[in-house]
Amino acid sequence: MHLYLFTYFRFNAFHAESKKPLHRECGFIRLQPGTNRVAFIIAQNSGLVEIEEGELTGQQLTLHSTALARTSFAKQPYVQQISRHIQLKPDGKLEQTISMALEGQPLTQHLHITYRRTD
Ligand code: HEM
Repeated sequence: MHLYLFTYFRFNAFHAESKKPLHRECGFIRLQPGTNRVAFIIAQNSGLVEIEEGELTGQQLTLHSTALARTSFAKQPYVQQISRHIQLKPDGKLEQTISMALEGQPLTQHLHITYRRTD
């Protein structure tokens, strides 16, 4: 029997002033036992679903999309590729940088987020 480790996560982004919900995603993080390989299985509110895979090196995780799919009526421009770099800083803050390629636009940084732990 194989034991697969996984955890559930969700990211919710809000507009800084109006507090209107912007981007939402949730999914599972799976670790391949005995390795440093990590997979994110993500559903986004925009109608996009994705699988990203990468490797954990020390406090850093770099992931690249290996599969993307969307609803037939998702808004354009369509995302072609997504990469994430996640890093736990010595002060306990978690940083995430997301880059994406769109139709006709190569991989470009989309956002950089710093998460602070709350009690
Ligand atoms: C992997 C996750 C994400 C994907 C695939 C994604 C995708 C997109 C796409 C396709 C656009 C339209 C780009 C264009 O019109 O040229 C966009 C715009 C935008 N995204 Fe994201 N996004 C992601 C995460 C986020 C997050 C977490 C936030 C919030 C912190 C965010 C904030 C925005 C904003 C503010 C815009 C501009 C909206 C506008 O111009 O009306 N995105 N995103």
